[in-house]
Amino acid sequence: MRPPCLVDSSRDLSDCITAILAESGVEEHTGIHKVWDLNVGDEQDLGTSASANTGAGSGRPVLSAIADIDASLIRDKGEILDRARCALGSASEEDFLRAWHAHTALTDPAGRVVQHLRAAAGAEQCTHAWVKMFHFLNAFQELVSVRDREDEDGVVRAGKPEDDAGRELCSLHLCEAPGSFVAALNHFLRTKRPALEWRWLASTLIGDAGPGDDEAGAAKLQRDPIAQRLATGRQRRSTSSLIRSTLDSWYFGADGSGDLLRRGNVAALRARARAALGRAGLVTADGSVDCSRDPAHQERDVAPLLRAEAVCALGVLARGGALVLKLFTFAAPPTLATLRLLSERFARVVLAKPPTSRQGNSEVYAVCCGFRGLAGEGASEADEEAAWELLLSRLDPPGGQEGGGSGEAEESWSATAWLANVERGARLFARMQTEAMRANCALWERALAVQPGRGAQANAGDRAPCYAGRDAHRSPHPS
Ligand SMILES: C[S@@+](CC[C@H](N)C(=O)[O-])C[C@H]1O[C@@H](n2cnc3c(N)ncnc32)[C@H](O)[C@@H]1O
Repeated sequence: MRPPCLVDSSRDLSDCITAILAESGVEEHTGIHKVWDLNVGDEQDLGTSASANTGAGSGRPVLSAIADIDASLIRDKGEILDRARCALGSASEEDFLRAWHAHTALTDPAGRVVQHLRAAAGAEQCTHAWVKMFHFLNAFQELVSVRDREDEDGVVRAGKPEDDAGRELCSLHLCEAPGSFVAALNHFLRTKRPALEWRWLASTLIGDAGPGDDEAGAAKLQRDPIAQRLATGRQRRSTSSLIRSTLDSWYFGADGSGDLLRRGNVAALRARARAALGRAGLVTADGSVDCSRDPAHQERDVAPLLRAEAVCALGVLARGGALVLKLFTFAAPPTLATLRLLSERFARVVLAKPPTSRQGNSEVYAVCCGFRGLAGEGASEADEEAAWELLLSRLDPPGGQEGGGSGEAEESWSATAWLANVERGARLFARMQTEAMRANCALWERALAVQPGRGAQANAGDRAPCYAGRDAHRSPHPS
């Protein structure tokens, strides 16, 4: 079912977004100016020369060079936050974090895009996620991979709008509450591909499995405000109206929890998606786990969910299809194994950070286009099935947090040109993130220094920097 409540669906918002971003100093139309292409193509065994290529020092394995990049990113972030804490003076950690968060939100050049789209253009369920998805759809044509309507399991390909009659896009959206990716895709299709038929299914964490659920399940829910709201039925209109009005297009797994960390739910979701959509042209997976209490372990904590999302997507996609998958840092073997799997199974994988993703955080998306199937060119359906079952069987058991369910032997990719390329990407994203945080901290210190009449005795609410007018958004590297 299409989300029915889209406001002003005839208006193409691309120009509107471009104008607001340009006003805020972001000039590119698509805004996907931070991209790293993972598929370098040459897969020769590099041995130790990969390290030499990347300047990591002769003989040093690339994996440990990547781990070093991550360690120094975590160290830099810690130092910058300490500086910001110091500048604010005596404030509780909670007050400091609240004020810092407000500061980074205010200096975010893309913050105004969301406000504007909501207020002036009435975009439905418009959030940062909405604009991110809209950017991706504008930047990567292959995301709308279509097929003839009669051809349920056929190959999909990026088609032209003028050929859309009689064609359809089938999409699956994982970890999707409150549903802004769906709303953005809805808007995009209505305005740019009106002749295309669209069928979709979405899933998300919605509760624990009820009696017999493990402690980990309850804890998971406690840390996830969106899922909690859905579970307790205390939905705020703004966060769940889309889900309520399109409930037929949502599925919450075999146990009704929507928890993708349960293997049974991954299998059931895949079966439901295949029954409802056939093979899909597009899968999005935007899962995240609240790591605010332990930010240094964000990658470790997210790795099993990332893997589960990837495995689910690979079991649902049609050949030629595309996947948009959120990740954070990519320094540890479980994350790298998932990226490697994607690089092998898609013709093109790029890591992309759109401007509406806070520049000072580690969030980045793997945009994967041209799915090649799991079992190779010309493989039978039975081979595809067997390959998928193997991936599924290697997912971590419930509650398992350590391995990320990678399955693949590290030795097969740890000395390849591919990994050396990943290292360069990791270096680039880490540098951009640190620069953004430094610039933000400098702005914070400046703003605090110039506030008259604010003494050390003032509380954090009083001392938090305040800005006048729109120049606040002109920070060159906000985070
Ligand atoms: C950033 S939000 C997704 C936003 C969404 N794409 C949108 O556009 O509105 C991350 C989502 O991942 C979900 N999530 C976290 N852990 C999950 C799990 N184990 N299984 C399924 N969903 C999960 C959260 O409940 C949350 O809804």
